[in-house]
Amino acid sequence: MPVILGIESSCDETSASICVDGAILSNVIANQTIHEAYGGVVPELASRVHQQNIVPAVQQSILNAKINKNDIDAVAFTRGPGLLGSLLVGVSFAKAFALAKGIPLIEVNHMQAHVLAHFIDEPKPSFPFLCLTVSGGHTQIVLVKDHFDMEIIGQTTDDAAGEALDKTSKILGLPYPGGPLIDKNARLGDPDTYQFPEPQIPGLDFSFSGLKTAILYFIRDNVAANPNFIAENINDICASVEKRVVTILLNKLKKAALQYGIKNVALAGGVSANTGLRQGLKQLGEEMGWNTFIPQFQYCTDNAAMIAIAGYYKYLKSDFVGQDVAPLARMPF
Ligand code: KG4
Ligand code: ZN
Repeated sequence: MPVILGIESSCDETSASICVDGAILSNVIANQTIHEAYGGVVPELASRVHQQNIVPAVQQSILNAKINKNDIDAVAFTRGPGLLGSLLVGVSFAKAFALAKGIPLIEVNHMQAHVLAHFIDEPKPSFPFLCLTVSGGHTQIVLVKDHFDMEIIGQTTDDAAGEALDKTSKILGLPYPGGPLIDKNARLGDPDTYQFPEPQIPGLDFSFSGLKTAILYFIRDNVAANPNFIAENINDICASVEKRVVTILLNKLKKAALQYGIKNVALAGGVSANTGLRQGLKQLGEEMGWNTFIPQFQYCTDNAAMIAIAGYYKYLKSDFVGQDVAPLARMPF
């Protein structure tokens, strides 16, 4: 019955989770609202807030799980990829806790953990499966052969899908982070009002920078003709932008599934919280005869439960790291 403490601090969420024998008993997430005033995450400020939040988040996760801190058998932490100053806080905490308790340390790759969030709840996907991992920093189609045997078969050549949504919301004057607000407004709009271009990128890779520029010019030209253009059409703009982002993602996912002959298809990462993308995958899955897997909302955006579950599977293999481990801003699978 291994008890794992999971720690996540790669960007602007400080999170701690307790996993007992593969079951998540707590998942505490301290969001950082300080970045809203700056329209994006300010790395220096993120590190400072992690420093404030890390111990209370861990204490709360232990309390919520109704365990004793002496019951913890190992500490799993996000080693990367992410903001280095943010990662340092979580890594240093994990190392100190493991040293004090004399328990092993488990390093976790944040992008692998997003995929492994599918092993928190039933139904769990069987191998091999494809996972479209879409976040603020990454857009990847991952071929998952086993828990830690993953291959990126398609990825963005420039911006991430979440970045395109966040930048669009900034152009529209919406506060950061914009993805959830685009989602909210899109529900009230008509997605066929405006047509944005679909980039023609060969293979399974993505590109979102051309779309971002097209949206920027579209808004600029329309606002020049009518200063109230955004206010009058915000819902239709959000719905049309969201529709294009979703079709770009799902068209490539369909291509990948056909190319690899795989019918188990999953979504992961912060953008998988998007209503249009969730509905779109479900609908495409029904058309294609796929088994589709979409995590609960709380396990889509950054959280420590996915780190704890990844840590659990590594614990079973005794896959530990030493106290000399250091965070990595870039960390390949
Ligand atoms: O995985 P995540 O929490 O952090 C990273 O590792 O990047 O993903 C954050 C991204 C942001 O771009 C945010 O705008 C987007 O996920 N996001 C959404 C929604 N919720 C979060 N995008 C669209 N619709 C949502 N409901
Ligand atoms: Zn993430």
